[in-house]
Amino acid sequence: MTRRFHVYWAWLGRVVSEGDYALALEQLSDALPVAIAAVDRSGHVIVWNRSMALRGPAKEEALGRALLDVLPSMRDDRNLDWEADLRRVLEERATVERPRHPMGDRVVRVTLAPLEGPEATGPVLGAVLAIEDITERVRAEERRLLRVRSDAVEDLGAGIAHEVRNPLNALSLNLQLLRERLDDPAAERKDLLAKTDTMIAEMRRMDELVTHLLEVSRGGSAVREPRAVDPIVARTVELLRGRAERAGAALVHVPGSRRTLRLDAVRIERALHNLVRNALEAVPRGGHVTVTTRDDPHSTVVVVDDDGPGIPAADRPRLFELFFTRKRGGTGLGLPLAQRAIHDHGGELEVLDRPGGGTRFVVHLPVDGDEARGPAADPSASVGGGA
Ligand SMILES: Nc1ncnc2c1ncn2[C@@H]1O[C@H](COP(=O)(O)OP(=O)(O)OP(=O)(O)O)[C@@H](O)[C@H]1O
Ligand SMILES: [Mg+2]
Repeated sequence: MTRRFHVYWAWLGRVVSEGDYALALEQLSDALPVAIAAVDRSGHVIVWNRSMALRGPAKEEALGRALLDVLPSMRDDRNLDWEADLRRVLEERATVERPRHPMGDRVVRVTLAPLEGPEATGPVLGAVLAIEDITERVRAEERRLLRVRSDAVEDLGAGIAHEVRNPLNALSLNLQLLRERLDDPAAERKDLLAKTDTMIAEMRRMDELVTHLLEVSRGGSAVREPRAVDPIVARTVELLRGRAERAGAALVHVPGSRRTLRLDAVRIERALHNLVRNALEAVPRGGHVTVTTRDDPHSTVVVVDDDGPGIPAADRPRLFELFFTRKRGGTGLGLPLAQRAIHDHGGELEVLDRPGGGTRFVVHLPVDGDEARGPAADPSASVGGGA
């Protein structure tokens, strides 16, 4: 044990009535199946429980060192600033929760919370980091969802009826009008053409809906072939270039992946298309949408950033529900289908607040093959985005 730990302990003995506070904390945390570390006010490790040591460096190695030095994959996490989070916990008593955080090929729940001293107004004693592996729970939940899919079919039926009825009504109305005009020898050609154009637009909408629905029914029966990720992203961005220009938004692709993964390219492209299109639809004129790719040790990551208004907290839990939309003419199928396609590839789709405002969608596509699943020395790397 390091000197720092002893100093801390002595100090704790003076301040807290029970001198064996840290010891009790350690014994308690050892009994839990969750990986737990505690740090003192300066961010140095004072508790490193058994689960944490099982996954990463031994307790003796971790004690007394800065937390993020012991967990380099968290320091190097390019989606989240754990250093700033830790500061917020220590300085502002904030609690940081990541209920479903992809780490390598695992899904974990991460909590960073203040360790309160005896006086609620005084400085915090330190912070606790808990990493709970919820992969099995998530998978079980996915299996349960598959079982209750029959319920979803009912909702789907109602949703389709609703979605089809609108364009169908518009079509029949326009056809009727067209028929009347055709009967009228004085009718203008221009007028007739306008009616057919409206009908073609409505047909397109229905065609899009049918394409979406085909994807719903196709589900996991994907044909996967080795494909380079960046060209797929580049193609998606190019296809949306015209839309970005019309919206007066800057659309940028920052390529950073050299990897080839086994993918159903059509579904992944459509998923990315939905994410980028949503971002373009969210930003005001003059807004920015940036699509960045990179290769992490366990997965290739595609980040879609926009500096739009962000997503209201109340909408978050509903984003991936079928037919949830806040847009006129939206189907509310874009996100659930994107998520489905990514899950079918063993990946994860994360929604985060973009630092500086707006929304960040992060797609993690795991590297298949054994080399990505080997044990790692760092607990947050064995469950985590890599150092
Ligand atoms: N980047 C984003 N910024 C803000 N809100 C978003 C963003 N992406 C999605 N949303 C919200 O999530 C909702 C659901 O998105 P989803 O793609 O599933 O459907 P949609 O975009 O409404 O319809 P469609 O995809 O058929 O056009 C959107 O209506 C919007 O409210
Ligand atoms: Mg959409």
